[in-house]
Amino acid sequence: MILVTGGAGYIGSHVVKRLGEKGYNLVVYDNLSKGHREMVKYGRLVEGDLSETSRLAGLIQEYGVTGVIHFAAHCLVGESEENPHKYYLNNVVNTLHLLDAMLKTGVRRIVFSSSAAVYGEPLRVPIEEDHPTVPTNVYGQTKLMIENILEKYALAYDLRYAALRYFNAAGADEGAAIGEDHKPESHLIPLVLDVALGRKKEITIFGTDYDTPDGTCVRDYIHVSDLAEAHILALEDLVQTGRSSVYNLGNGKGFSVREVIETAERVTGKKIGAVEGNRRKGDPARLVALSARIMKKLGWRPACADLETIVATAWNFHRRRFG
Ligand code: UFG
Repeated sequence: MILVTGGAGYIGSHVVKRLGEKGYNLVVYDNLSKGHREMVKYGRLVEGDLSETSRLAGLIQEYGVTGVIHFAAHCLVGESEENPHKYYLNNVVNTLHLLDAMLKTGVRRIVFSSSAAVYGEPLRVPIEEDHPTVPTNVYGQTKLMIENILEKYALAYDLRYAALRYFNAAGADEGAAIGEDHKPESHLIPLVLDVALGRKKEITIFGTDYDTPDGTCVRDYIHVSDLAEAHILALEDLVQTGRSSVYNLGNGKGFSVREVIETAERVTGKKIGAVEGNRRKGDPARLVALSARIMKKLGWRPACADLETIVATAWNFHRRRFG
């Protein structure tokens, strides 16, 4: 039985679906502050907060949980700088509550949702896992702090973990019933699709003077279903080998903001109005992953690496939900 914290969120709900399809028993724990009840397609949804340690321990015992996949966290870079307390409390302290419940109940396996934000401004691209980690915002710092905590707990308490450092999660499940729906939305692809749907007049390009081929930021977009598959491989590897590890997850190919907009125009057949704006604070020029480690150790291969397909799946979901 797998406990999925934050399983009603964007990435969590895709992992829940994949787990369910593979026949895993699972229980989702989510306070629904950002997640959506209807996106939990498998398992039982228990509404609750990670701050409730004894309730968590009870739940682990009641369901006979043997492994945890931990998504529940705040994830807005800008907000993390404006309200660091909210982030340290919910991301770091609440992870300690979860780990406390795990230690008390003897559960020793956890797959943790980390981020490329742990690297900060990269010194070299593509970024491998051994690249220095110097986060440039509180959000990235909380993810790195949790990785450090997991590393120490692994030594002291025999905990086994996999930390997955996602680059830019994008796209939606092929059935289009689950996908990206944040409030407020701040991510590029859903905002561009909002323009295509006429829900938003235009997209603002945050900075056109970066040291990149067209002056706009370059990101490594990875399909959310490929991310989901990686969680399952990481969990199974923890069970089989008991080795802890940190893995990057990206396609190894960067696309600029302009390229994303052009791709969305092709996919949707709509003209997407864009205006050039100022840089957004803390945005690195280029973030591209080297994911060789997870490919070699776990045999992970993206099934949907092409940006056009990623945007097309996002568009199918977006039209269905907001159109
Ligand atoms: N962008 C725009 N206009 C917008 C929104 C975004 O130009 O209206 C640009 C951003 O400046 C960035 C790119 O589009 O260059 C992608 O932006 P997103 O907000 O979609 O994603 P980020 O790269 O900022 O963030 C992602 C994850 C975070 C994670 C971060 C790691 O969503 O959780 O990568 O740096 F922290």
